[in-house]
Amino acid sequence: MATILLLSGPNLNLLGQREPAYYGTTTLDQLVALARETAAKLGHELEHVQSNHEGALIDAVHGARGRCGAIVVNAGAFSHYAFALADALVLFEGPKIELHLSNVLARPERWRHRSVLAPVVDGSIAGLKETGYRIAIEAAAELLEASGRGAGIPRSSEPGPRGPARSAESENMEKKK
Ligand code: DQA
Repeated sequence: MATILLLSGPNLNLLGQREPAYYGTTTLDQLVALARETAAKLGHELEHVQSNHEGALIDAVHGARGRCGAIVVNAGAFSHYAFALADALVLFEGPKIELHLSNVLARPERWRHRSVLAPVVDGSIAGLKETGYRIAIEAAAELLEASGRGAGIPRSSEPGPRGPARSAESENMEKKK
C-alpha cells in the first residue's frame, strides 16, 4: 500500500459554485471522496492538500518526498506559470500526474494553453471533469505498480532502495503535524 498525494491549487476550494460549464457542479470534497474511494479499491491511501498559495503546495510536495508513492496535481492557474512548483515536482521521485477538470487547450484564454507542469510529470489528463479524478488515481496506481513502488515506501526501520532512511526525529516531526 502506498499513499497517493492529491494536490489542489487555487480556487478549487470553490468548486461546485465556480463556472459550472467548465468545472461541473461537483464540490472539491466530493472529488476528494471519489479519488479516495478509487485509491482504496486499488489498495492505496489518499492524502489531500488544497491551498490558494503556491508555497504551501511546494511544501506539500517536499513533504511527500520519501513518504508518498505518487502525486496527482490539479494546480489550477498555477499550472500555467508556477515555475517554482514545477521545480519542486522534479524533486519528487515517484509518478506524477497533472489533472484538469476542463479541457484547457479548448478554452479561449491563450495563457491556459501552456502548462509549465506538463514537462515534469508523467502525463496529463484534461477535460474529463470528475471522471478525470478517477482515471488519474488509476493511472498513478498503475505507474506505481510498474515502477515496483506499489507496495509502498519503506519506513525508516526498513531501509530500502529508495534512498536514505528517515531519521526518528523527522518521523516525530511528521507525527506532530
Ligand atoms: C483548471 C484549469 C485552470 O486553467 C484553471 O485556472 C483552474 C482549474 C481545471 O481543473 O480545469 O483553476 O486547473
